[in-house]
Amino acid sequence: MKIIETIAEMKAIRIKLKEPIGFVPTMGYLHEGHLSLVGKAKAENKSVVVSIYVNPAQFAPTEDLSKYPRNLKRDLAMLEQEGTDIVFFPADKEMYPEGYDTWVTVDKLTKPLEGNFRPTHFRGVTTIVNKLFNIVQPDNAYFGQKDAQQALVIKKMAKELDMNLNVIVCPTVREPDGLAMSSRNVYLTPEQRKSAPALYKSLILAKDLFSHGERNTTNILEQMTAIIQKEPLANIDYISIADTETLEELHTIKKSALVSMAVRYGNTRLIDNLILGE
Ligand code: PAF
Repeated sequence: MKIIETIAEMKAIRIKLKEPIGFVPTMGYLHEGHLSLVGKAKAENKSVVVSIYVNPAQFAPTEDLSKYPRNLKRDLAMLEQEGTDIVFFPADKEMYPEGYDTWVTVDKLTKPLEGNFRPTHFRGVTTIVNKLFNIVQPDNAYFGQKDAQQALVIKKMAKELDMNLNVIVCPTVREPDGLAMSSRNVYLTPEQRKSAPALYKSLILAKDLFSHGERNTTNILEQMTAIIQKEPLANIDYISIADTETLEELHTIKKSALVSMAVRYGNTRLIDNLILGE
């Protein structure tokens, strides 16, 4: 496994890699969720590139950039074990040199849900993912369903900017008690951690109601909200039932819907989702 720190070196080595190339962009502090993406990339491609880059542009000044968990040594050992060929690990000055001034935005799709609470977040994500795609030039790029809106936004960007790659979205990996794996879970205190599976419980409730014929989203949202509100440590940012492509809120579910939520435990913001009618 080679560790590459500059764009020039990454581009040079890219030419020598066997195709197809699978790419997994990450911000490090890897967990089983990331490794499932690497495993899928490995199974479906001849070479696997993983990037580790904590992208400052997707954090607002009030967010957790400086505290974001990092452990390069552990990440590299995990990636080596998974059979990764190349780890791209650039520094900030490599990705955003002084005077950097070019941004990529997806417009309407980034406004609701996460965009409503983190208005500058997706501009940072689409810009860095675009840059990484240009540098690595993968055939297939892998993202987790846990960040459902991010996956939709990246798919739309790749399609509308005529990018020559497939965006592949992989299932959320969960802890045994249902909590979606996330690098941010380490911030939770033991009490918060104990309460956090409430997110998944409320999603499962939505699934049960849907499978028993409930289609009215107000009824489903009320019962989901009640489950989370039973947890004194949890504060709901939003719970949404929206169209799986446009993310417009639904009053009635016809075929399918994206049920998604963000819940804060102290300063830690957890997100989770599930698709109904898949
Ligand atoms: O999902 C993430 O970890 C990040 O948003 C990504 C896609 C690596 C871009 O920085």
